[in-house]
Amino acid sequence: MKSNSTQDVILNPETLPSHVAIIMDGNGRWAKKKMLNRIKGHEQGSQIVRSIVTAARELKIGTLTLYAFSTENWARPKHEVKALMMLLKKSIVSQREELSKNNIRLNIIGQKHKLPLDVQKELEVTMELTKNNNKMLLNLALSYGSREEITTAFKRIAEKIESKDLDSRDITQDLICDHLYTRAMPDPDLIIRTSGEYRLSNFLLWQAAYSEIYICDTLWPDFTESEFIEILKNFQKRDRRFGKVACSTSNDG
Ligand code: IPE
Ligand code: IPE
Ligand code: MG
Repeated sequence: MKSNSTQDVILNPETLPSHVAIIMDGNGRWAKKKMLNRIKGHEQGSQIVRSIVTAARELKIGTLTLYAFSTENWARPKHEVKALMMLLKKSIVSQREELSKNNIRLNIIGQKHKLPLDVQKELEVTMELTKNNNKMLLNLALSYGSREEITTAFKRIAEKIESKDLDSRDITQDLICDHLYTRAMPDPDLIIRTSGEYRLSNFLLWQAAYSEIYICDTLWPDFTESEFIEILKNFQKRDRRFGKVACSTSNDG
């Protein structure tokens, strides 16, 4: 019998998450376990990114968001930040053609302007090259922090009120959504966190209001396509109530 490869997996398209977001955690611990430098963990982690992006696209996930670098990660040792930025640049360049060929659109959420200029440039080239692609939207969360995102949204809204382009009575949930990095995207249906940590670490706090959360112990560099598929199957069995009464009991007196 064949193993779980995306070709022979049958997932009900009606209950497939439109948006999956992943907190890719555990690179450092993976390296430590193998008595390697943390950077080796990041290198292996970036290989996994490639395979999960391909799998998500084959499984027909509409939007995949990957948490790659947080606003707090700038406080890591300088050499680690530098290595992460170099690795990011390398991945963007080496995966550019593949993204293009696979009809995937790249988008960045986060403080793009804080990234090194050479990284920004490669990101811009890839975003421009893939801007008309429509099989999957790949959001890379880079220098991303939810509190920064929400604070910036408040500032923009306040400026519009000051300049009389908006009235405070116009503030609605939709208006706030329109000022976030994720504007025009569905909220994540499923947030996966690897490495067994039970926290969101400043990721999509507004957008996660009704996300299903799945935490696995696997360290990100050991994460596989088949585990991803198992998580999607688990998601499909969940009863999402959104504060209402479950469908199966809604007719009870
Ligand atoms: C995730 O792995 C990658 C980034 C946060 C950039 P970590 O580097 O956080 O790995 P651990 O949590 O130390 O194992
Ligand atoms: C979250 O992981 C950020 C990313 C995966 C990019 P961290 O390793 O930075 O989070 P904490 O410190 O364990 O909360
Ligand atoms: Mg970590």
